Amino acid sequence: MTTRILFLGGAGMIGSAAAREAVAQGAEVTIVTRTEPRRPVADGVRQLRGDVRDREQLAALVGGENWDSVVNWVGFTPGDLDGHVELFRDTTSQYVFISTCSVFARPVPTLPITESSPRRQPVFGYARDKVECELTLEDAYRSHDFPLTIVRPFHTYDRTTLPILSGWTAIERMRAGEGVVVHGDGTSLWTLMHSTDFARAFVPLLGNQHAVGESVNVVSGDILTWDQIHLTLAAAAGVRSPRLVHRSSESIATEIPGWGEVLEHDFRHTMLFDTTKLQRLVPGFAPRVSLSQGAREIIEHYEATPAAREPDAELSAAFDRLIARP
Ligand SMILES: NC(=O)c1ccc[n+]([C@@H]2O[C@H](COP(=O)([O-])OP(=O)(O)OC[C@H]3O[C@@H](n4cnc5c(N)ncnc54)[C@H](OP(=O)(O)O)[C@@H]3O)[C@@H](O)[C@H]2O)c1
Repeated sequence: MTTRILFLGGAGMIGSAAAREAVAQGAEVTIVTRTEPRRPVADGVRQLRGDVRDREQLAALVGGENWDSVVNWVGFTPGDLDGHVELFRDTTSQYVFISTCSVFARPVPTLPITESSPRRQPVFGYARDKVECELTLEDAYRSHDFPLTIVRPFHTYDRTTLPILSGWTAIERMRAGEGVVVHGDGTSLWTLMHSTDFARAFVPLLGNQHAVGESVNVVSGDILTWDQIHLTLAAAAGVRSPRLVHRSSESIATEIPGWGEVLEHDFRHTMLFDTTKLQRLVPGFAPRVSLSQGAREIIEHYEATPAAREPDAELSAAFDRLIARP
């Protein structure tokens, strides 16, 4: 029997890869987005238009149908989930909330991180609100038998996204022989996952009753230092020996205040994951796209897309000031 899947959102970077993979695996996929998706939507995906945070609109669009799995890609605050428990309690066998591994406490008390690591992010707004969403839905699972699965991606990228805060500016500076600032001493560990690998790990969780009541960190085993990430991107851009300049996260935040929160509460901490639960639920899953391969795709995409290569003169000037500091 065909699996019927509803995506709330699901036309962005991760969602569109997941929709393509689900269709390829034979599922019937419907996505609800409020605007025309900017990315190509996989052939065979049924599209509905509406705001998934408007409970009346959502009920009118999808309320009369039954689903094996409903995936909410666009829940960022508990308010975004209003009405979902009532609407989907009796019409789906699984409601998947897309959270984030940013919910885990920093510094991480014990590495590697597992699904039972403490969730605590009192300051970093994005992560704090995702924790609140998880707790709200867990309460519905316990009190109302709501068939919840929490899925937490970590840092996921595709060809359209350079997985560093400095984006294309870093590539231009490397190519020009100018320094690129890397936080800390460039040796803290990070985990990146290509969106197609995420999709291959994620889709088998849909309609999987063993995943109901569980939270699953969907992460790759591709562990890299921040220097390695920069060096791999440099190599793909044809730069053999880029000048990486290390500055503390605190110093960087004085020149680039917008980066302060994400560096302090996310990027500067080593993030290593134990993927045992994912392996148990999706036997045999292994990522296929290394960062070296992903980086080549990214550079090719940016070379072919002039609009993506907007220079950021302010960021470049901030890097110059940071590099000039002793
Ligand atoms: N990328 C990462 O590294 C990462 C890491 C951890 C967690 N995540 C989580 O992954 C999820 C994002 O996935 P994604 O990037 O693939 O995006 P996505 O879920 O595919 O969502 C983006 C799409 O949903 C639409 N949308 C947004 N709000 C909507 C609403 N209220 N009603 C209907 N449609 C709406 C957007 O349209 P508009 O253009 O109109 O906004 C866009 O088409 C988020 O929950 C994020 O926290 C991502």
